[in-house]
Amino acid sequence: MITTAATGTPASAPPSFAALPANRQQPDGSGRRYSVLDRLIAPADQALRTLSGLARSTRPYPAAQIGETLTEDADRRLARGLMRVNHAGEVAAQALYQGQALVATSPILREQLLAAGREEVDHLDWCAQRIEELGGRTSLLGPLWYAGSFAIGMLAGLAGEQRSLGFVAETERQVVDHLQSHLRQLPHEDARTRAIIEQMQTDERHHGDSAKLAGASELSSIARGFMKVTAKIMTHTARWI
Ligand SMILES: [Fe+2]
Ligand SMILES: [Fe+2]
Repeated sequence: MITTAATGTPASAPPSFAALPANRQQPDGSGRRYSVLDRLIAPADQALRTLSGLARSTRPYPAAQIGETLTEDADRRLARGLMRVNHAGEVAAQALYQGQALVATSPILREQLLAAGREEVDHLDWCAQRIEELGGRTSLLGPLWYAGSFAIGMLAGLAGEQRSLGFVAETERQVVDHLQSHLRQLPHEDARTRAIIEQMQTDERHHGDSAKLAGASELSSIARGFMKVTAKIMTHTARWI
């Protein structure tokens, strides 16, 4: 993503998803097919990067130009708990995209899912940075969030292209609402955490909108309910563990 060096403000993201053409060739038109090994290397590599904390953002930290305002222990504890939840959500996002990409039949959709996952690495890194600033740690259950989300991503991917995109759109809609609830809960003066969450919210809205434009189908109320329940289990647990 392009940034303005003077302000350090992340510029808007390029489209994550584009409408899929009827001709399902590689984006470069090569028609190259991925081997099973090709397909397994990317998720294994990304799982290691995500869970080891090696994944690094490519955009500036949204809070870079903002002074620290949190001094009270209770406020810092609240902010780091919320950011631990958000970090766990970003671990899950990486796994969902990888799971969906692994089973995607369209090479173009697969590339788009992997590219969207790369965009989400920024969020993962920003959340980890903020947690560290606040003297906290990321969730100890990261491997569990990753494994469970990877399986859910595969299920969504196996449901077909439109439903896979629909899953992205619905996930992002729920994440935007979830981030809004965090903005309400945060200490009012915590401008650093707010800047990070607001940028994440902008990006997530963009991911969801582009998935819709690319042809996402509406998920059933049962699927939406299942997603809400699993997200709730993760967010409640990751807050403390
Ligand atoms: Fe994200
Ligand atoms: Fe997203």
